[in-house]
Amino acid sequence: MEQELKKIKLEAGEEIEKVEDKKSLAQLKLNYLGKNGKLTAILKGMRDVPSEDRPRIGALVNEVRTFVEEAFSAKERELLQKELEEKLQNEKVDITLPSKGSKRGALHPVASMTDRLIDICVNLGFSVVEGPEIESDYYNFEAVNTPKSHPARDMQDSFYFTDNVLLRTQTTAVQARAMETMKPPFKIIVPGKTYRNDSDATHSPMFNQLEGLVVDENVSMADLKNMLSIMMKRLFGEDTCVRFRPSYFPFTEPSIEVDVSCPQCHGKGCKLCKNTGYLELLGAGVVNPKVLDFNGINSKKYKGFAFGIGIDRASMLFTGNTDMRSLFKNDIRFLKQSR
Ligand code: DAH
Repeated sequence: MEQELKKIKLEAGEEIEKVEDKKSLAQLKLNYLGKNGKLTAILKGMRDVPSEDRPRIGALVNEVRTFVEEAFSAKERELLQKELEEKLQNEKVDITLPSKGSKRGALHPVASMTDRLIDICVNLGFSVVEGPEIESDYYNFEAVNTPKSHPARDMQDSFYFTDNVLLRTQTTAVQARAMETMKPPFKIIVPGKTYRNDSDATHSPMFNQLEGLVVDENVSMADLKNMLSIMMKRLFGEDTCVRFRPSYFPFTEPSIEVDVSCPQCHGKGCKLCKNTGYLELLGAGVVNPKVLDFNGINSKKYKGFAFGIGIDRASMLFTGNTDMRSLFKNDIRFLKQSR
């Protein structure tokens, strides 16, 4: 048995050394240490060893078993390491290879126009304020001098949830909220989504406005006109001409509408401006004193001016696009064009 054990030790050492893959190693392990393995057989045979030889043979058996087990573990570690190294070698990524070309993204035309307008206004000293898109009839109409029976409500076909709750039709609603909470003097702009039941080439049921409101002592129509001229020139270029026409809004008195010379043809006349050379861009006016008083600002002391720009419209003029619906179709070809 002693001979047998020494032979096993020697052979196992040699055989394990030669193995080169995990599968053969597992098989070899079974041959020695498995249920019917060579060493297992010897262990079973211990029963027949005379008792005086048992301690010596027993120690030898243990020694050989430990040796064989460790040899297997060492080989297993070695193969694992080899496998890992091969994997690292094969899966190496060459970061110096040129890429297949990546697609450049861009802001949506409405988002980039919003950013431009906000930039211009913040430079002129305005702070940005927001309000809810689901609004009460009170803020959307009532508090800006448009009571229930007012004919101006017909100009805006609204989406009502209940008699008193609607999707705001104008960011002007936030004017009343600001007057309620802010102490004059203040200068605010309100960019945001607005909703009207209207859909054709120049109207979308959801559109974007930028409201402006200045409240201070001694502000006038002259200040408003000056500020709008500066804004339009910064937006469309220094050579832009700005035209003011009298108009009507319930919340301003007097009210004006503002046209800019067509950014596409520079006033010569083209398809975009229907050969008029000008495009209507925004409404504005001196805040109606009724609105100031109604919302808790003393109109004897304070005056105000306000304006409301259609952001989608501004972005269309900027890019020469004549169909507002294209802005919201998410057609990648259109979005690429406006990059
Ligand atoms: N709220 C108006 C609209 O949606 C736009 C507007 C006109 C806003 C005059 C104003 C303003 O602040 O003074 O048609």
